[in-house]
Amino acid sequence: MKTQILNRNESTEQAILQAGEMLKSGKTVAIPTETVYGLGANALDEKAVAKIFEAKGRPQDNPLIVHIESTDKLELYCDDIPDKAYKLAVSFWPGPLTMVLKRKSVIPSSVSAGLDTVAIRLPSNEYARRIIAASGCPIAAPSANTSGSPSPTKAEHVLHDLDGRIDAVFDGGDSEVGLESTVISLVGDVPRLLRPGAVTPEMLKEVLGEIIIDKAVTQLISSQEKVSSPGMKYRHYAPRAKMTLIRGSIDATERYIKENLCEKMAVLCFDGDEKLFSEYAFTVTYGAENDSKAQASRLFDALRLLDRDDVERIYARCPKSDGIGLAVLNRISKAAAFDIVDV
Ligand code: TXA
Ligand code: MG
Repeated sequence: MKTQILNRNESTEQAILQAGEMLKSGKTVAIPTETVYGLGANALDEKAVAKIFEAKGRPQDNPLIVHIESTDKLELYCDDIPDKAYKLAVSFWPGPLTMVLKRKSVIPSSVSAGLDTVAIRLPSNEYARRIIAASGCPIAAPSANTSGSPSPTKAEHVLHDLDGRIDAVFDGGDSEVGLESTVISLVGDVPRLLRPGAVTPEMLKEVLGEIIIDKAVTQLISSQEKVSSPGMKYRHYAPRAKMTLIRGSIDATERYIKENLCEKMAVLCFDGDEKLFSEYAFTVTYGAENDSKAQASRLFDALRLLDRDDVERIYARCPKSDGIGLAVLNRISKAAAFDIVDV
């Protein structure tokens, strides 16, 4: 299959209409969102949804997020919507927040991997919203990477992973946030944070009061364990090389790395640290130490840069965990299979 690149050579308006038409007719189109690129298909069309799993090599038990263009569509796809959902929608939609609610049967069970719930999100990216509107259908879209690799924040990342396996990618430039949406489940008594993102626990608590942070956010979950969010148990974001997070000051980190030198080594560090390591290691930076937002937007590109044949061992500086830092820490910890050393 030849993957078309939309919005490079034609007018944006024309490209949006074409993406919408393709989605409506059952094709797969990767679309830009403010978090990461998503691999979209018509959520009401089971055959189209099956193509997503196929193209990504995604395990069948990992449910998809359904993207809508306006809050009033919630009632079409979800049952028993609690007030809390509307409160969250008013505060954070359109934006990087996904809510897990009871699924109506119009959404095929395969979208939700057989669960009786469905994850719903209203993205803020203009292209995403206009493409969804042009398609006239809800769009199921996981991140547009091959299963297991870092989520794509550029059209180039999508093509690197999926060229020839999907019908089109709409090039909308770099994703702003750079990490996937916050996922919160509203089906239990107390809202449960399943995946941290740009809508932080502090922001959620302000609207909801109490929330539970699922243990998969901060710990390694074995593949046998029962989890609230199936996606949390899979190995993720990982370059081929083994990666270890070093938590501590730059001095202690430098000392540790010097004591543990190895062949084909790389260091993932903060802006300005690179001069300490570049003489003996391939060095990649992912933002300033105190700038969690920059780290969020650069982490996945950095992990992709580290995924090369001449890198077999990676040491990474550990990010702070407040605000959006919790999401950065969650993703980088998963990339390191939660191998963290305190120095
Ligand atoms: O920012 C995002 O959320 C991006 C963009 C494209 O919107 N999408 C994304 O999708 O990250 P994906 O499939 O890579 O991650 C979806 C996560 C997975 O961890 C999945 O297990 C969880 O959401 N999820 C989806 N439906 C669920 C459900 N019904 N119950 C619990 N977790 C669910
Ligand atoms: Mg994903």
